[in-house]
Order: sequence, then structure tokens, then C-alpha cells
Amino acid sequence: MMSDRSGRHFLQIPGPTNIPDRILRAIDQPIIDHRGPVFAALGREVLAGLRPIFKTEQPVIIYPASGSGAWEAALVNTLSPGDKVLMCETGHFAFLWQQIAKRLGLEPAIIETDWRHGADPEAIGEALASDARHEIKAVCIVHNETSTGVVSQVGEIRQAMDAAEHPALLLVDTISSLGSIDYRMDDWGVDVTVAGSQKGLMLPPGLSFNAISAKALAASRDARLPKSYWSWDDMLQANQSGFFPYTPATNLLYGLREAIAMLNDEGLDHVFARHARHGSATRLAVAAWGLDVVCADPDGHSGSLTAVMMPAGHSADALRGIILNAFDMSLGTGLGRLADKVFRIGHLGNFNDLMLAGTLSGVEMGLAIAGVPHQSGGVQAALGYLAGNQP
Ligand SMILES: Cc1ncc(COP(=O)(O)O)c(C=O)c1O
Repeated sequence: MMSDRSGRHFLQIPGPTNIPDRILRAIDQPIIDHRGPVFAALGREVLAGLRPIFKTEQPVIIYPASGSGAWEAALVNTLSPGDKVLMCETGHFAFLWQQIAKRLGLEPAIIETDWRHGADPEAIGEALASDARHEIKAVCIVHNETSTGVVSQVGEIRQAMDAAEHPALLLVDTISSLGSIDYRMDDWGVDVTVAGSQKGLMLPPGLSFNAISAKALAASRDARLPKSYWSWDDMLQANQSGFFPYTPATNLLYGLREAIAMLNDEGLDHVFARHARHGSATRLAVAAWGLDVVCADPDGHSGSLTAVMMPAGHSADALRGIILNAFDMSLGTGLGRLADKVFRIGHLGNFNDLMLAGTLSGVEMGLAIAGVPHQSGGVQAALGYLAGNQP
């Protein structure tokens, strides 16, 4: 199809994110024998290189799958039919994880939220403390809820679990936080970390991850949910020599090697600070427009994305359509109960100040074209913040 567009498309959805040229070039290589020595060296390198990104010394495994596969893998490897799992419905992705748990024959006990706050450590502590028979086998948390832009405090949740002296496993989804927001698997005593390639890791969709604690591995020995493709055993066994039990996504692993190098070159702390700073600048713009962000939790603002609420009676999807047509920029849609009520600005991955300035300019012009009630000056507020807060 012919396109009348010139210049680059602005992909400002909260993942998949823009892929750096360095990673695109790394992926653009001939395929190699995935049972040969060159592959084994690549496999060993990426498997070892991932651990510091998760801040763990425990094994990280890689599935050729989207993030949903890693969600399923975390559950089927650790749990048995009918097991109770404590899940906090912080937003649409937490809701989808619940649906997977139900389909697998687990029994989710759900702690509801208003989708504007993170998971409540106190409520989790109380639920565990009242479970004297230890029927709850796992607590499942989405670290950064991509549908709302709210971060849950995993370290505080761990403390609440410890205070309740409850042996449940802690399973955490970091699909939109890994490589964007500080995450410490071992310090926070997380048992399974779920992650994906297409957000902070700046890769195409298609890889997902489970990082596995010794406690989770021990639980997997007794877990009776059926599994084959997702089985940790075969994967861990093959990974010891750098191989996979089935055909790996070889070229994405070339990209992963480059992504790990890029994160290390920048330094993880710098990466997290960069994301947080772009989140702050975005929120200043939203406030200047006179609009509200979905996150109502002062400690929960996401560095990965900002979800913005539309004034009543105005369609978020109409605004997104106008912005796409006028400026060739894609913004994230509202999901689940937030459909058409919010739009989401992704500011994660391979991103910088001028990309944010362009993004916010597109939103501000779009608000004007769409006739959405707002004040101008959001872009100016963000620019002032960025100029005055140099890293
Ligand atoms: C927090 C979170 N969890 C899980 C998923 C599902 O991952 P996938 O769409 O790659 O299967 C996503 C996707 O955006 C997500 O943001």
C-alpha cells in the first residue's frame, strides 16, 4: 500500500516499544544451527546476562512466546489443580492473569482495587494471616499495571507476607517494568518473575521469561497441573549447556544479547531514572492540560507509561484516531473497564527527551483538534521540567 506519510511513525503505545537500530542490526543475521557450538555460546551468554537485569542469581529461562505464555508457565510449574491463589485485581492485566488461573483449574481469591491504586500490602497480609491452614499457595502481583500506569510495591508485599509467616509463593509480573522500573527479584524474595521482550528490553514481541527461585523450583517438584511446552525441567536441563529443548527464537536472542549490552552500557540505575523523569514530565503536562492521570496512588506513578482520563462525554478512541491521522502517532488504547475512557502514553524503552517533547506535542495538538476541553501549556510545562532537571 502506498503511504503519503513522511518522517517516522511515533509509536507511543506502552509496548511493543521502539526498537533501537543497534538491536535491529543485531537481529539481522543469518540463522545458525541451534544445536551447534556457536549457538551454545550465545545461549549461555544471554542466560547469564539476564540475571543481573532481574537482580537475581537464580536461573532465568526464555520461552519463544508472548508474555501470556510466561504467565501460564509460572502457574503450571508451581501449582496443582484446585490450589487457591491470591490475586490483586489492580487492572486489566491482573484480570487477564486471573482468567488464565481460572481456566487452568486454580481457585483465585481476588482482592479488588479501584484500578487507580497498587496492590495493598496490608490487605494481602490480612488475607494470609486469616489463612491458618495455608490453603493459599501463591500470591500473584502485577508490578507495573500497563492498563493504568500504577506500580505496586513488591518489597512491601514481601514484608507483609513475611509478617504473616505464610509460606505462599510470590509470583510477580514485570512485563512492563523490567528494564524500566527498579525491580529486585532476590532482595524482595520473589519466587517467580514473569517478563517479556517487547517493552523495557526494547526487542520485538516473541520472547518471554520466568526467573525461578529455589523455593519455586522445589514447589515445581510437587506441582500437578499438566504441562509440557512450559515445563521448567526440560528447559533448565537443556539450558545448562546453552541449548533449548525445542527450536529457540535464534534471531531474537541475537537481539537480546544486544539489549542486555545496551542496558549495561547505560547502567540500570540511569535507565530507571530516565524512565521516572519522563513519567514526571508527562504528568506535569497532563496537569497543565487540566486532565487527570488514572494513578491516584502518590507512590505508584509509573515510569513506563501514563494513563490519562478523558473529560466525561469525550471519547479517548476518537482522540487517538485524530492523533493517528493528523500526526502519525499511535497512543495506547483504554483496556477493559477503561475502554474509550483513557488513553495511554508509553514513555518506555528506547526513548529520550525530544521523543517525549514530540509525543506530548502531538497529544496537545490532538486535544485542540478534537475539541476536548483542556488548557494549553502542557508541552511547555514538560519542557521546563526537562530543561531544569538534567540527569
Ligand atoms: C503487565 C502485562 N502483563 C501481561 C501482558 C501480556 O503479555 P503478551 O501480550 O505479550 O502476551 C502484558 C501485555 O501488554 C502486560 O502489559
